[in-house]
Amino acid sequence: MTSVPPRRIGVLTGGGDCPGLNAVIRAVTKHALQAGLDVHGIEDGFLGLIEDRVRELRYDDVSGILKLGGTILGTSNKANPAKFATGYDANGAVVWEDVTERCFRTIERHGLEALVVIGGDGTMACAQPFAAAGIPIIGVPKTIDNDVIGTDLTFGFQSAVEVATEALDRVHSTAESHGRALVVEVMGRNAGWIALRAGVAGGADVILVPEIPFEIDRVVEQVEWRRSLGRRCTILCVAEGAAPVGGEQIVHALDPTSPDPVKLGGIGAWVAAQIDARSEVEARAVTLGHTQRGGSPVPGDRVLGTRFGAEATRLLLEGETGRMVAWVDGRVRDVPITDPAAGQRTIQADEPLLAAARACFTSFGDRPPAHLSEGKRGRGPQGLLR
Ligand code: F6P
Repeated sequence: MTSVPPRRIGVLTGGGDCPGLNAVIRAVTKHALQAGLDVHGIEDGFLGLIEDRVRELRYDDVSGILKLGGTILGTSNKANPAKFATGYDANGAVVWEDVTERCFRTIERHGLEALVVIGGDGTMACAQPFAAAGIPIIGVPKTIDNDVIGTDLTFGFQSAVEVATEALDRVHSTAESHGRALVVEVMGRNAGWIALRAGVAGGADVILVPEIPFEIDRVVEQVEWRRSLGRRCTILCVAEGAAPVGGEQIVHALDPTSPDPVKLGGIGAWVAAQIDARSEVEARAVTLGHTQRGGSPVPGDRVLGTRFGAEATRLLLEGETGRMVAWVDGRVRDVPITDPAAGQRTIQADEPLLAAARACFTSFGDRPPAHLSEGKRGRGPQGLLR
């Protein structure tokens, strides 16, 4: 769908932050200024539209922000205008209201003729009523989780993988000194992309992801096998959303005022406790949490953010609307803005990285690894490795 190119645009960042947001804001703004448009920054995502907090962005505002983590505009992951928590009723239940009209008034008041919304699947869902109301809108997918449908890559992911890989590298030496198993729990919600990529990059012996339910016996088996080889440490990279076969994900908190109320966490500590209890190996767990979302973006995310931001403005200048920029088959493209009903992009069984990891003796805790299966057991681990 195309419309008349806008003269003044608004830009916002919604949902959880991630490294690379400022790279996008900078590219959107600089490209728009170059084309003679006015740019306004909306503060704290859709909350800024609800509460009328909008400010002009000039060259100076976006110069020098490329390498900064976070977002200069602020963000909120609780501000879905179509379902906004406005308080509690007499019974303590959250009161939800549709405040989309308030947002329309803010847009009108500031003369915004189009929007660039930078966010994950939640933000893309929030964008739907605006697109439906005829407001030109372009989405830019972000998230460390890399789980937005329609794009092979989101910015923020590579930076999170860098942090997780460094953590895996670091725990190696302390685990080896003490002869321990070290479990590193990473984020990712219901997708195991961070765990898989960092696990492979960090040489983890066990990787647990939400897409592959695991058996704790298989995990312990791998730890014991490593010990039988004389290896002094076993490294495990566990996604926060991983769960045992027939078990549930571990929820560490519930936030009833958030459209995404479930906060995952705790599986790493559980796995470590099981190893402690069921094997001869002492285990420790570390949870990386928000360290994966903080700090400066890696070069890959700065470049991807810049390309996405410039493309978003280009699409608006072409009069496009209802599109999301995306990374598909190694190129920047645009796709229909993510349909919230489409769900999340998760690891599929034919993901090549799974096979590569298994080929390197990595266990996903789902089956006896090839080196421990019938017929190979007799040769003994040392025989296998000769
Ligand atoms: O979606 C990004 C993410 O960091 C997830 O990996 C994690 O589950 C969640 O956000 C944490 O959310 P919050 O910052 O609200 O605790």
